[in-house]
Amino acid sequence: MARVLLSNVHKFFDDVVAVKDISLEIKDKEFLVLVGPSGCGKTTTLRMVAGLEEISKGEIKIGDRVVNDVPPKDRNIAMVFQSYALYPHMKVYDNMAFGLRLRGHKKKEIDDRVAEAAEILELKELLDRLPKQLSGGQRQRVALGRAIVRHPQVFLMDEPLSNLDAKLRVQMRAELKRIHAKLQTTIVYVTHDQVEAMTLGDRIAVILNGELQQVDKPIIIYETPANRFVAGFIGTPPMNFIKGKLEKSADGNVTFECSSFKLNMPPSLHENVANYIGKEVTFGIRAEDIHDAKICRWTQDIATLETKVDFRELMGSETLLYVKIGGEHLVAKMDAMNDAMSGSNFPVMLNLRKLHLFDHQNQKAII
Ligand SMILES: Nc1ncnc2c1ncn2[C@@H]1O[C@H](COP(=O)(O)OP(=O)(O)O)[C@@H](O)[C@H]1O
Ligand SMILES: [Mg+2]
Repeated sequence: MARVLLSNVHKFFDDVVAVKDISLEIKDKEFLVLVGPSGCGKTTTLRMVAGLEEISKGEIKIGDRVVNDVPPKDRNIAMVFQSYALYPHMKVYDNMAFGLRLRGHKKKEIDDRVAEAAEILELKELLDRLPKQLSGGQRQRVALGRAIVRHPQVFLMDEPLSNLDAKLRVQMRAELKRIHAKLQTTIVYVTHDQVEAMTLGDRIAVILNGELQQVDKPIIIYETPANRFVAGFIGTPPMNFIKGKLEKSADGNVTFECSSFKLNMPPSLHENVANYIGKEVTFGIRAEDIHDAKICRWTQDIATLETKVDFRELMGSETLLYVKIGGEHLVAKMDAMNDAMSGSNFPVMLNLRKLHLFDHQNQKAII
């Protein structure tokens, strides 16, 4: 059993609260990604699991054992960092074998474990090379190999792909998925990159200012973000947000109104928003839920807005169209063939089945 359990974990650096009351269960064999902006406490959290940082308050269990006072070497974990720091004068084989030799493993055992890791990582042909004779991706694989040969209960990875160029990062992402499937081991993976989080995680834990915001499967976080921060952080381009107010007319119609437009809320949502009538809310909609009104044939749960094109970005497979209506700006994901010109009128249709509403005060999702 190699689950990791954090209970009310805190970390204080003098008067800085780096980690605030995090409770989180990482299941056996799970690939869990901790994601959040720089400085939010990801590395500190991981270092507390590793034992490299003392826990100020709370408890961490690995398996069934409380590890608060267990030194790192006895925690049965292996950590992979962004800077893979291979020994430059040692061949790949020796880089991987080094830790095992230090721990006094027998030669045969070391040979077997390095061979097994080399097989998993496709490094068999490279065991006699020096790090300088390897590409960035190969070096990162050796760094993973050093961790794999230890047969840890849990892998802790801190932005391990950040030093690679964009193309290699995408390749290594796929490889990590494959490696995890082969190893069947718990992985706690830290990144600031939401795409990495979405693509790698069985589940994602989103952190802001040392506090856990939401933990769930990637698709659930994407479809039903718990608050405005998560909604804006996960997804590219970021979700569109518009501040406004909910109103109810005499005939029972509920509207969202901002300085630039007004739209009818779908009747199916009236009950959910009943407590917010007359209150300020933030309306959210993703770029892919805004369509070209000229070609969209939907008739229910939609709103049409008469926007003007500001500018466009061709992404290859799609076009991002930046439009405005009054003082509000929206970005819409359109077909790559879309050729709407800057300054032209462009009616858009919002799919209100995909709308989000956030409490203006505490930023929590209302629907
Ligand atoms: N050794 C330290 N001493 C004082 N403050 C620290 C130390 N390590 C981290 N911090 C602070 O704790 C917060 C979280 O840092 P960190 O965990 O490294 O964030 P992340 O990995 O998410 O970028 C930051 O405000 C950082 O400045
Ligand atoms: Mg960090």
